Amino acid sequence: MTYNNLLFESGEGIATVTFNRPKALNAMNPETARELKDVITKCINDENIKVVILTGAGDKAFVAGADIVTMQNNQPSQSLPFMEQGHEVMRLIETMPKIAIAAVNGFALGGGTEISLACDIRFASENAKFGLPEILLGIIPGWGGTQRLPRLVGMGIAKEMILSGTQIDAKRAYEIGLVNRVCPAAELLAEVRKFALKLVSLPPFAVKMAKYSMNFGYDLALDNATRLEIQCCAQCFSTKDQKEGMKAFLEKRKAVFVGQ
Ligand code: CAA
Repeated sequence: MTYNNLLFESGEGIATVTFNRPKALNAMNPETARELKDVITKCINDENIKVVILTGAGDKAFVAGADIVTMQNNQPSQSLPFMEQGHEVMRLIETMPKIAIAAVNGFALGGGTEISLACDIRFASENAKFGLPEILLGIIPGWGGTQRLPRLVGMGIAKEMILSGTQIDAKRAYEIGLVNRVCPAAELLAEVRKFALKLVSLPPFAVKMAKYSMNFGYDLALDNATRLEIQCCAQCFSTKDQKEGMKAFLEKRKAVFVGQ
């Protein structure tokens, strides 16, 4: 697939996907959502890719939300497939067996905050702004914001943000646990990349099982969730990487994982 609204590059185990619609501050239209699904699927199927970084082109926006121009005259029957399309790709990012990192380099509003919420880890530049301003447009978040934000930061703060539509800066996003780290804008991508490079040599099956246990255990009753974790952990003992990881520890050397 040729991408009109995304840039894609990969190397050293890291794929970087850049939202690239600068004239609309990288807002997401159905075409961009289709491209995002395609590129994430490509990352999932490429065993050389271990970490996927999502970021925005330019220095102003990560993603300024869903494209208001294309949604403006929608009826519910036209909005429904767009919301479903967004949910499908958000869940694909969240549950893929690779690590997704959002490098939020400016406005991440509406769908932009929601994309970052679907990632495993979020780094933000000092000038980043987060928010779910949909209420100010007469709608509500439709790509997972009402569900993932309360799970990440708690219901009280999520309600404050979603019901008021207020934007918050990177410092506040860090205080409430919405982002993992804040960096000067000029250093953001380098910092994310440095962090990603530490992750690429991890044993991939263990990464997959850790995400699986967290993603699919989170909403279960604790007793069922812990049983899921037991199964995921036990499965890791089928891999060469588990044998190598433990052997290396006992031999006091760095493990060399082979991805099996
Ligand atoms: N959709 C379409 N176009 C957008 C856009 C969006 N979400 N956000 C910005 N743009 C466009 C603007 O219309 C403008 O285009 P023109 O130059 O043709 O006028 C261009 O990008 C630059 O934007 P501004 O002039 O507004 O720039 P600014 O610096 O004054 O403000 C901003 C920046 C605060 C991000 C402001 O653009 C803004 O509030 N954008 C909308 C944010 C928003 O409401 N997002 C939620 C969308 S709904 C949603 O996401 C639903 C969902 O859950 C999936």
